[in-house]
Amino acid sequence: MIHGHVTAWALALILFIVALFLHKSGKAKGFKIVQMILRVLYLVIIATGVGLLFSVDRIDVWYILKAVAGLWVIGLFEMILTRVTDKRRTSTFWIQFVVAWLLVLYLGFEKLPMSIFNM
Ligand code: HEM
Repeated sequence: MIHGHVTAWALALILFIVALFLHKSGKAKGFKIVQMILRVLYLVIIATGVGLLFSVDRIDVWYILKAVAGLWVIGLFEMILTRVTDKRRTSTFWIQFVVAWLLVLYLGFEKLPMSIFNM
């Protein structure tokens, strides 16, 4: 489950960057396709995340925070890509993007016990 979770968000991050480059080079069709694949990946990330939550004995506040931060990152992927296509400003979302990533990586890798490195 944790491997699936990490694979899904790592792939999503790569495709998010690919989507931004496709948009930059005016490849609207390619962008749309990558955006659709991303939306499927969001569901995979959430499904595996919820699956991990179910494997926890006692869900404490750090798990809730981790889930919220994860949803926040997904929301920002989607917000940034839709605003980029609408040619609207994205600066405040990029700031949130950095904060949300730092939070999710800290909680996932440092704070919470499960790890891909020992499973
Ligand atoms: C793009 C969004 C997300 C990212 C980047 C992300 C990132 C991570 C990372 C880095 C880990 C730790 C992996 C490890 O220690 O080897 C993790 C674990 C976990 N994630 Fe996510 N996650 C995201 C979305 C979600 C969502 C939406 C949920 C819940 C609905 C969730 C629930 C969990 C849980 C329960 C764990 C196990 C925590 C532990 O005990 O170590 N994640 N995630």
